[in-house]
Amino acid sequence: MKTTKPYKLYHWDRVDVLKEVAQYGVVQIMSPPKTPDAFLNFLASLGSLMFTEGEIPVIGHTLLNVVTNANRKTKPKSTFHSDTSYISRPPSNSALIAIEVPKAGGATLFSDQYAALDSLDDDLRTLLQGAEVLHTATGVQKVQSEWHPLVRYNPQSGRKALFLTSIARCKRLRLADGTDRTDLLQGLYDKSLTNTPHIKHDWSLGDVLLWDNRCTMHAADHSDVHGTRTLFRGLIRGEEPICGGAVDTRDGGVATPHI
Ligand SMILES: [Fe+2]
Repeated sequence: MKTTKPYKLYHWDRVDVLKEVAQYGVVQIMSPPKTPDAFLNFLASLGSLMFTEGEIPVIGHTLLNVVTNANRKTKPKSTFHSDTSYISRPPSNSALIAIEVPKAGGATLFSDQYAALDSLDDDLRTLLQGAEVLHTATGVQKVQSEWHPLVRYNPQSGRKALFLTSIARCKRLRLADGTDRTDLLQGLYDKSLTNTPHIKHDWSLGDVLLWDNRCTMHAADHSDVHGTRTLFRGLIRGEEPICGGAVDTRDGGVATPHI
């Protein structure tokens, strides 16, 4: 698989950061915030923060959660997904700061869901117009699920992308006329991962990545990690996913669709 590196964002104090992120999918923040406090303040300056129920909070920073392979009996698993997509207003953006990095391995990979949508042939795109996917939580106690548009409009870029998450969390697909076409899900997911260029980031201590969950999926490569890999994650609450039209993005605002 051909991969490129994340776009490096140097002058993040002088640009509309979330527009840059929506354009590139994922950016590396250069001269990044150096402490969890500063990381949190940086994210809070971009939007309302949220926390995913069931995650482990960082001590002293309850809006950040810990992602680590330390003290685990089994190797972590990761498949391409969009973060916490099973709620009504999923995080538009996620960010990670590297707290401890392994000697080797543990990269994070991103798919391009704009390209995934563009790769579909015209007949399939027509069939899927107005289709929705049922996103369901797995691995957590509380049963949560939400229907979201399969073709999702990103108000920060003005572009549409194929909005999916891991197959385990994509429970159903229904067309605009109500027909169940869950059988299409695996193929759409596979296309997302095979028909698109991928971005890959190998972590160094203190690195900060910020991405847009509306137009990417991501996964960690746990296949050959040597050493402890600990990252802190923060989430910015997004709008209710829509399939087209204008949206009020103030405070991650609630969508006002006009398709
Ligand atoms: Fe994730």
